[in-house]
Amino acid sequence: MPPRPLGWPTVRIAMVCLGNICRSPMAEAVARAMVEQAGLEGEVTVESFGTAAYHTSEGADPRAEAALRQRGWPVGAHRARRIAPEDVEAADLVLCADRSNVAEVLRIAGPGTDRDKVRLLRCFDPSSTPEDDEVPDPWYGQAREFDAALRLIERSCAGLLEHLGATLPR
Ligand code: 4NP
Repeated sequence: MPPRPLGWPTVRIAMVCLGNICRSPMAEAVARAMVEQAGLEGEVTVESFGTAAYHTSEGADPRAEAALRQRGWPVGAHRARRIAPEDVEAADLVLCADRSNVAEVLRIAGPGTDRDKVRLLRCFDPSSTPEDDEVPDPWYGQAREFDAALRLIERSCAGLLEHLGATLPR
C-alpha cells in the first residue's frame, strides 16, 4: 500500500512496542537523531509508547541503551508510558514493532481511528518481506538480540527518513 500523504506543518511520529523500554525507545532515539541529521527537527516530532503499562515511568532497559551507545546513537532521558487514544489521534504515523502492537494500538484507539496510519515500523525497511516484517522482542534475549533489533530499527528509520524527505512540502 502506498504511504498516505503526511501532515503539515509538523509530522508527528509515534513509535510503539509492548513495554516502551526496549524497541520503541531505540526507534525513538534513532529516528530523532536521523531527523536532526536531516535538519527536519522543526518539521518532524518523534515520541514512543508502549501498549502495556508494566513499566510506566521506568527508564529504557540498560541493554537497549548499551546497544544504542555501541552503535553511536545518542541516549536521552526516557520515561516509559502507555499509549492512550488521544496519542493515537494526535499522531500522523503510529509505527509498531510487531503485529500484536498494531492490534493492541487499534484496540486502544477504538472505532473511528484512521487505521491506515497504524503500521509496522518495518514497512519502511527495504529488506522486509511479508514473512519477516517485525522487530522481534529482545526482552528475553541478550546483547546480541538487542543489536539485531537495533539494526532492523536503523534500516527502517533510514527508509522512514527517505519517505519523509520525499513527502514533506518544501
Ligand atoms: P519492548 O520489550 O516491548 O521492546 O519494550 C519488552 C519489555 C518488557 C516486557 C516485554 C517486552 N515485559 O514483559 O515486561
